[in-house]
Amino acid sequence: MKLLEERIKQDGRVIGTEVLKVDNFLNHQVDPALMKAMGDEFARLFADAKVDRVLTVESSGIAPAVFAALALNVPMVFARKKKSLTLSEDHYTADVYSFTKQETNHVIVDKRFIQPGERLLLIDDFLANGQAVEGMMQIAEAAGAEVVGVGIVIEKTFQKGRVLLDERDVRVESLARIAAFDNGEVVFAD
Ligand code: G4P
Ligand code: NA
Ligand code: NA
Repeated sequence: MKLLEERIKQDGRVIGTEVLKVDNFLNHQVDPALMKAMGDEFARLFADAKVDRVLTVESSGIAPAVFAALALNVPMVFARKKKSLTLSEDHYTADVYSFTKQETNHVIVDKRFIQPGERLLLIDDFLANGQAVEGMMQIAEAAGAEVVGVGIVIEKTFQKGRVLLDERDVRVESLARIAAFDNGEVVFAD
């Protein structure tokens, strides 16, 4: 997506060899016009997928997910993060290990908000190691729901998340794909 790539070039800051800081339009301050454009693009890409619901993980997935859900005219639910897990009959849960932050979060979704048989579109801000998406897939499976697509705002093709998802045989669409960081510059794939 040209608009997003331009914005990454303009406002993204490369930290070390692996991390892109985009806190002035996605991860802290949020640009609603850009989120709207991204939501419309996800809806266009998954127009044929018969999506019933959008699922994401708090916090940074929420903005793109809500605009995708708006454009698809379906509800959106976000998995909540919990540091410790109190087992409950009422929730689906998954463990999500963050390589970036070196900590495990438990993510939970109330059982009322995913119905068996629903067709889910998973949305996230970054695809890095793929742990967040894996967690959402575990929740979908536990709920008896079907993952019909994964929509990613920024994919880093050099980390292992994409490989994990390719093994899963699910359709993945990323609005920007980063192949490498070269001396502080972003190199896009293709
Ligand atoms: P994953 O997202 O593919 O599971 O990979 P990883 O475990 O490495 O990600 C841990 C956290 O770091 C996630 O945010 C993820 O979005 C974020 N992240 C990964 N790579 C980058 C990057 O290059 N730039 C930025 N800005 N973030 C990155 P989180 O812990 O879920 O936090 P939140 O922002 O959603 O609250
Ligand atoms: Na994030
Ligand atoms: Na995230």
